[in-house]
Amino acid sequence: MSSTDVKHLAIIMDGNGRWAKKRGFSRTKGHEKGADVIRDITTYCATNKEIDTVTFYAFSTENWKRPKLEVEFLMKLLDNYLQKELKTYQENGVRFKAIGNFDVFSQALQKRIQETEKATKNNTKLIQILALNYGGRAEIVNSVNKLISTGKTILTEEDISSTLQTPYNDIDLLIRTSGEERISNFLLWQLSYAELYFSPTLWPDFSTKELEEIIQNYKTRTRRFGGIK
Ligand code: FPP
Repeated sequence: MSSTDVKHLAIIMDGNGRWAKKRGFSRTKGHEKGADVIRDITTYCATNKEIDTVTFYAFSTENWKRPKLEVEFLMKLLDNYLQKELKTYQENGVRFKAIGNFDVFSQALQKRIQETEKATKNNTKLIQILALNYGGRAEIVNSVNKLISTGKTILTEEDISSTLQTPYNDIDLLIRTSGEERISNFLLWQLSYAELYFSPTLWPDFSTKELEEIIQNYKTRTRRFGGIK
């Protein structure tokens, strides 16, 4: 293990709609293809020795602004994905975890999320986190409120880190596809020292080959964590 290992990889998947439009398909087709790519990348990460966690931004708190039909389609796709994926998770030793606020999801979807987490909890090759109805600021505020409710009045960074929904490693590498160069309220706390990589590829065209190239590029960077090297 070296400081140039990617232990926690985070991905903002962007460009499903543009991918579909370029081909004359409906946007939903782009999301379907996007879900297949999540599977490929997850399977690859499970076999890559240095990656222990991969977090995907699957639905942000802002995504509710999309047309109702598209939101409904995304919810259905997620439910189908988790149902189908269980086999892939078990075969590849992947532990599934969801972060975000699921209270607004249907009971059936909430149950599917809980059951998938439970069924995969002993898998050890990789943790796959899906951020669903997730917002980075909300995650920090929830954490602070939790600490205040225990009577704490002075908080440390450690207090906050350990009460986030993702008390896992900080992120080493963040990739955003489709040429957009924004963080969009994703994992704000955990990204503090991450290396950022913006790819022009639309998410449905993203491949394990490109991921390997990006990881190689990451290894040429010097991470100083605020110090001098
Ligand atoms: C951005 O494309 C993508 C999302 C809304 C999130 C990612 C969603 C998926 C990959 C679909 C399935 C997810 C799961 C977990 C089954 P966009 O629609 O913003 O693309 P655009 O910017 O080109 O319009």
